[in-house]
Amino acid sequence: MGDQKTISGFSKLRKRDKIKWIAKTFFTDPEQVMTELASHWHGDAEQQKILDGFSENTISNFPMPYGVAPNFMIDGEMYVVPMVIEESSVVAAASAAAKFWMTRGGFVTDIISTEKVGQVHFKWTGNGDKLKGIFPKIKEMLLEESKDLTTNMEKRGGGISDIELLDFTAEEEGLYQLRAYFQTCDSMGANFVNSCLERFSASLKNYVIKSDKLDEHEKDVLIVMSILSNYTPDCLVRASVTCPIDKLGMFAGGMDAHTFAEKFVLAVKIARIDPYRATTHNKGIYNGVDAVALATGNDFRAIESCGHTYASRDGQYRSLSHAEVKEGVFRFWLDIPLAVGTVGGLTTLHPIAKRSHELLGNPSAEKLMSIIAATGLAQNFAAVRSLVTTGIQQGHMKMHLQNILNQMKATDDESKKAIAYFDKRVVSFAGVRTFLEGIR
Ligand code: MEV
Repeated sequence: MGDQKTISGFSKLRKRDKIKWIAKTFFTDPEQVMTELASHWHGDAEQQKILDGFSENTISNFPMPYGVAPNFMIDGEMYVVPMVIEESSVVAAASAAAKFWMTRGGFVTDIISTEKVGQVHFKWTGNGDKLKGIFPKIKEMLLEESKDLTTNMEKRGGGISDIELLDFTAEEEGLYQLRAYFQTCDSMGANFVNSCLERFSASLKNYVIKSDKLDEHEKDVLIVMSILSNYTPDCLVRASVTCPIDKLGMFAGGMDAHTFAEKFVLAVKIARIDPYRATTHNKGIYNGVDAVALATGNDFRAIESCGHTYASRDGQYRSLSHAEVKEGVFRFWLDIPLAVGTVGGLTTLHPIAKRSHELLGNPSAEKLMSIIAATGLAQNFAAVRSLVTTGIQQGHMKMHLQNILNQMKATDDESKKAIAYFDKRVVSFAGVRTFLEGIR
């Protein structure tokens, strides 16, 4: 062991030996590190086994706060939304925005479409027109030969909606693609889609070898890869809020509703015009979206990468949300692709994700799309409202104060005094240190 920083057979070591090697090789206080890592193990060995099963080479758990944002009125129903996020003020902001809109009609959502996408990328050198000519037959055969995979999904109302042949030979010699479209009901559908695609690639290869419509030199297909696309622009939900301006009320710093609405609309417009602002603006949306995705056991990386591609679909990265004032009515909305599941994957395996689903009334995938989109919009509303009124730091640093106090090892009594002292003052790291030194 000692100083050597490489190892073979690490994955085969028992957890304790993995930890020992890590602690002794990379830390100056190995005993302390081992104690700390062990302290985060789940108290129940069965539960720990489940968590370990989600990944590989696990040596501990990484705790993240599990918060809830109450008072979300979405399509007339009330929700308490579970959120997993490590950034202070996000849950508070979502809760505040939910409460604001609860008395103004709440969030209204519309599931625009629920289509998933998969691709088989392949190379084939031959007469492209011939391939296109026999494609209807190929498609029939692809659907037929994947029946054993699709029967169950079809019983639930889903399945394969279409398969297209796309020609990329202008970009790369011999490059084609099967692009397939799926409905995956309440599952995110990655396994279903990928299984179908791998079946398509095998069937395609076979068909081409056997086809009497193709010449000998046209009988070889090189399957490059078969994989779902995380870009699902047609798995789309719209969440919106609407309110006559004179019912918006007053805003922080005494700002009247008309000034607020105008500034808000302009702020959103800026995020449509400028990618630098759009990135931060959308990050605020994903503060909410990712937090609910995590809490419900969904793949937030897939959701984010899709959203960012969607935000760039006209060639420039833009805000995912829109705002307008028309005939005295303020309207703010978000169109966001969300490929999520409420069955399969981690949704029922993760003990807390399972509880999140229960908390939300065991929603369908479509309902969860609505809840996540509404949370993203709430987050975006709260952030832009702060930005155009008080500025973000006032609220943010107030929420961050406890983190600073914890870092400075403030006692309960010192924390209480600091919270009272900073109630009407600007919080800063240096300011808190000076305050604590003063009272210590
Ligand atoms: C911080 O996590 C998110 C914000 O920067 C979003 C925004 O600027 O709209 C506050």
